[in-house]
Amino acid sequence: MRITVIGTGYLGAVHAVCMAQAGHEVLGLDLDAAKIDALSSGRAPFFEPGLPELLAEGLASGRLAFTTDPAEAAAFGEVHFLCVGTPQQPGSNAADLRYLHAAVESLAPHLHRPCLVVGKSTVPVGTAAALAAKLAELAPVGAEAELAWNPEFLREGFAVEDTLRPDRLVVGVTGEHAEAVLREVYAPVLALGTPWISTDLATAELVKTAANSFLATKISFINAMAEICDATGADVTTLADAIGHDARIGRRFLDAGLGFGGGCLPKDIRAFHARAQELGVGSALDFLGHVDTINLRQRTRTVDAARELLGGGFAGRQVTVLGVTFKPDSDDIRDSPSLHVARMIAAEGAEVRVHDPEGLANAKSAHPELECVDSVEDACAGADLLLHLTPWRQYRELDPAEVATWVRAPRLLDGRNALDASRWAAAGWTLRLLGKPAPSPVG
Ligand code: UDX
Repeated sequence: MRITVIGTGYLGAVHAVCMAQAGHEVLGLDLDAAKIDALSSGRAPFFEPGLPELLAEGLASGRLAFTTDPAEAAAFGEVHFLCVGTPQQPGSNAADLRYLHAAVESLAPHLHRPCLVVGKSTVPVGTAAALAAKLAELAPVGAEAELAWNPEFLREGFAVEDTLRPDRLVVGVTGEHAEAVLREVYAPVLALGTPWISTDLATAELVKTAANSFLATKISFINAMAEICDATGADVTTLADAIGHDARIGRRFLDAGLGFGGGCLPKDIRAFHARAQELGVGSALDFLGHVDTINLRQRTRTVDAARELLGGGFAGRQVTVLGVTFKPDSDDIRDSPSLHVARMIAAEGAEVRVHDPEGLANAKSAHPELECVDSVEDACAGADLLLHLTPWRQYRELDPAEVATWVRAPRLLDGRNALDASRWAAAGWTLRLLGKPAPSPVG
């Protein structure tokens, strides 16, 4: 099939590459010429395992190309996927839909043949119906430019895998034709036995916001338990393991610590609550406000714990932050809990050095006040305190005895409860964990 992908950010670039991998002819469209140049010459604009290889394969096969011209995209595709961003509006909790509307407004006037436009972006419920009306009004082909909604559930770091082998495919359609077209688009994925859920537009939009809200709630639930554990000397990891054995609860997304960040969960729960308020049912989602508050409180709790480890103040102390991305296997620093903590500590007068295997370039340009250091050893040299805030594998592989020779004082706060605490304690480190007692330093 001939497919266009409009918006080549995280979602769009991965979708375009994976659709070409699935055997379709794909044209990616973006207004950002630098991004299109990079993709056209085989450079992925962000770090995502597996993406560069599939991008190169797609370009070499001749089935994948990129353009900045909406008219070219409109003429090319039978199916047009909308993959533009829906960030949080400045000064509000609601989603900013301007890029989505702009994408439809630039594509629609060029649609002279019947086609299917498929939204993938995460949107407030009701957006798809509004866009369907706009499309029919602006497209020369009228209502034969049909709209469907097909939310995306990919996780950064596993984006290629999640797109080619998703847990489920959800499509919101208004007729059988759209469903048949989407079944054809996803034929290779369906052949793997992937569950297929076909529903109306509103339910499809809601599936995505409900899923992300549930995940965020799980994380904040376990972090609330971590606060109770800290007040009582109990161990949140053992608690999570124990409740997680109940298949109705499940162990995944119950890792307590610094909480969630990134370009999706925080803004999606806020936009969902804001949309419910617009619909007059805000109280049904008031709990998402608490989920957000619990999540943000983990950041101040981490700063408080770090200050306490240093004996009460940050002024004149050197603090090293390990990890700046919002999660490992990504270079994404959007709403990164770790960077937020680093900035709060710097604002209290500490000299903050940060390290990350992939996110330093992004951190450097966004936060020139932080000292970004390329090697872990140099970042740790002379530190009064280490903060482990993004759980990259590389940090779990550090030798605590060797790291102790780099720092000024062997103090460590593990904000992700991911390091082997007894090994660090055995090497003489004073430790602080979130939601569990730390072993005492040995020697
Ligand atoms: C999320 C959803 O998982 C995905 O389905 C959706 O399509 C987009 O939003 P992503 O933003 O890539 O994906 O990150 P995710 O893996 O969900 O992690 C989000 C945050 O939660 C990270 O900051 C992570 O560190 C944190 N987290 C995750 C925890 O604090 N504890 C956990 O147990 C799991």
